[in-house]
Order: sequence, then structure tokens, then C-alpha cells
Amino acid sequence: MHSIAVYSYKGGVGKSSLTVFLAEFLSSKCCDQKRVLVVDLDPQRSSSTTLLGDERWLEAAKDGKTLVRMLRRQLTRPLTAQEARLYLKERPAARGKGKFNFLQSIQVLTTEREE
Ligand SMILES: Nc1ncnc2c1ncn2[C@@H]1O[C@H](COP(=O)(O)OP(=O)(O)O)[C@@H](O)[C@H]1O
Ligand SMILES: [Mg+2]
Repeated sequence: MHSIAVYSYKGGVGKSSLTVFLAEFLSSKCCDQKRVLVVDLDPQRSSSTTLLGDERWLEAAKDGKTLVRMLRRQLTRPLTAQEARLYLKERPAARGKGKFNFLQSIQVLTTEREE
């Protein structure tokens, strides 16, 4: 498994765009359709909403499928891989005919502002 970190203290320099582009590229046929997980640590969560769409992201937040909730839960006891997987939201692959049918499935672990 490879991990790629995209980070910078500066805003507006292309972090989210590069993250989404890399996720799309690595999961595409050009790159042997690798399994990709995007862990979004930015409270602005642009990568999450770009990949999932607002509605799916809101669903994740409503269901508590976020990194913040996962870490809070982890404080009580370590999560099993199966339990951790429940916190991932999927951008499903586009099947059938249509101009977006090149899109592959991408897993997203999103974040939320800690209130
Ligand atoms: N390689 C690029 N060339 C030109 N514009 C870009 C490039 N990457 C990102 N942008 C644009 O720059 C702006 C900021 O990008 P974004 O990915 O949101 O940055 P960040 O996540 O670092 O705040 C957006 O309008 C985006 O479309
Ligand atoms: Mg961003």
C-alpha cells in the first residue's frame, strides 16, 4: 500500500484539485484501477464534496461517518478493520453507457468541524 500526502499551510494552491485528480487517475484504467482511499483532513472538505457530492457528504456527516467520529470512538478501544471500514463513504463507479462511465469507485473518509 502506498500513501500520498497532499498538504500545504497556504490556501488556494491546488491541494484539493490535486487530491481529486490523483484519486481519479490512480483508480482509472490508466493506473490498473487501484483501490483508492481519500482521507480528507481539511475542515473545508472540498475534496470530499467534489468526490461525493454535497448530498452524499451530508449523508456521511448525518450518519457520523467522519474521521472525527472515528477517532472519538477509537479513544474507548481500538477499532477493528471491519469497524473502521464502516466510516468510509463510497463514490460509486459509474456503470453502463454515459459520459461519466469511466469513473471508478473511490472510498472517502471525510472530516467535519469539531464543535
Ligand atoms: N494546476 C492548476 N492550474 C490552474 N488552476 C488551478 C490548478 N489547480 C487548482 N487550480 C484552481 O485554483 C483554485 C484553488 O484550488 P484548490 O484545489 O481549491 O486549492 P486548495 O485546496 O489548496 O485551497 C481553484 O479555483 C482551482 O480550480
Ligand atoms: Mg482545498
